[in-house]
Amino acid sequence: MSLELPTERLLIREWELGDADAALQIYGAEEVAHWLTPEWQPVTDISAMRSVLHAWIEAGPNLIPPAGRWAIVRKEDGQLVGGLSLKLLPPFEEDFELTWALRPDVWGQGYATEASQAIISWAFKQGIEEVFAVARPRNERAIAVARRLGMEWVGETEKYYDMRLQVFRLRPS
Ligand SMILES: CC(C)(COP(=O)(O)OP(=O)(O)OC[C@H]1O[C@@H](n2cnc3c(N)ncnc32)[C@H](O)[C@@H]1OP(=O)(O)O)[C@@H](O)C(=O)NCCC(=O)NCCS
Repeated sequence: MSLELPTERLLIREWELGDADAALQIYGAEEVAHWLTPEWQPVTDISAMRSVLHAWIEAGPNLIPPAGRWAIVRKEDGQLVGGLSLKLLPPFEEDFELTWALRPDVWGQGYATEASQAIISWAFKQGIEEVFAVARPRNERAIAVARRLGMEWVGETEKYYDMRLQVFRLRPS
């Protein structure tokens, strides 16, 4: 499902192969990669980033809606500043997990919250009844985003990725 979703300061859009340079500044940054799920293979060069983008773009049409992976572009200067995704949580693949990654130099400006609000309200319009976010207990910034979004703390679990994670959930109000 192709998506282009504007917010006040951002545009959420599909990834393109030409995004590799900008994507590497996000996913190649140690401050970001450190917090991603264990399935994430560190990306250290442009050709690896291109392969990842290629895989994401190829996989897109086969995902169960509203699952997807999107780029976050800042409207003001057209810079690609982050990515977000909605994906089915392992192992049961029933719950949709929202994930975020921002280029470290743009942290602290509310972009993750703004982009998430837009994608969540779009996802609820597609008919899903809840969205989850999971974060390592020490990932204070991710936990703060979940709380800022109004997500409720559900508990702690190891069932998703074989590591202890804080679980948050949001339902349409
Ligand atoms: C998680 C992550 C996306 C959070 O980024 P962030 O910039 O802290 O979060 P937001 O974009 O919501 O910004 C919130 C901050 O902007 C401030 N802010 C400024 N303007 C704002 C606005 N209009 N709306 C909301 N917050 C605003 C908030 O006060 C807050 O500041 P603080 O961090 O000093 O308290 C980022 O740290 C990251 O990429 N981490 C690595 C990847 C990761 O951990 N992902 C989560 C697991 S999938």
